[in-house]
Amino acid sequence: MSESEKKTKRACAGGKGREFRIGVYPGSFDPLTNGHLDIIRRASKLFDKLIVGVLINDAKKNPLFTMEERAALIRKCVDGMPNVEVGAFDGLLVDFVKQNHAVAIVKGLRAVSDYEYELQMAALNRHIDADIDTIFLMADVQNSFLSSSVVKELAWHGGDIAGLVPKEIEQDIVDNIKRLRTQSGN
Ligand code: PNS
Repeated sequence: MSESEKKTKRACAGGKGREFRIGVYPGSFDPLTNGHLDIIRRASKLFDKLIVGVLINDAKKNPLFTMEERAALIRKCVDGMPNVEVGAFDGLLVDFVKQNHAVAIVKGLRAVSDYEYELQMAALNRHIDADIDTIFLMADVQNSFLSSSVVKELAWHGGDIAGLVPKEIEQDIVDNIKRLRTQSGN
């Protein structure tokens, strides 16, 4: 039995007699922050299975980590969460949701500034497939300023990222930034 099947079986226990509900939490996760991990933890309690969907490529961004590295870093952090899986997707999010038989997309909202864009995305995704809803979880206030971009910028300039990213991956991020700085001659 594969690890994924084992996880699903464990999550199924006690879920008899009702629909098995799968949620997808999508993002670039370059890198995963404590804000993301908080949303994963909370969303995992709302669904029988939560799939963290890592976007394979975003042409607009210059990634710090490859998709495989980002997924591996997330796996390190969700090791103790039996109903959380990490997957990767390219193309439309709605297609990934459907392929995985998920019922909803999970997004975190930090501030009003997130709302306008997320409202548009949720409406667009429902336009593409009316059966797929988006569920918003409000970010913990202590994570309201936190994003992958600020972590990258802080680490790039030698700032301390402790407390902003999961302990399990802090050193990976620092090491990768060092490597990239050396490569770029900065
Ligand atoms: O962490 P991010 O970069 O804010 O995540 C953005 C993400 C991955 C959720 C978004 O870019 C996305 O859904 N991309 C897939 C393409 C898609 O379906 N776009 C919406 C319809 S055009």
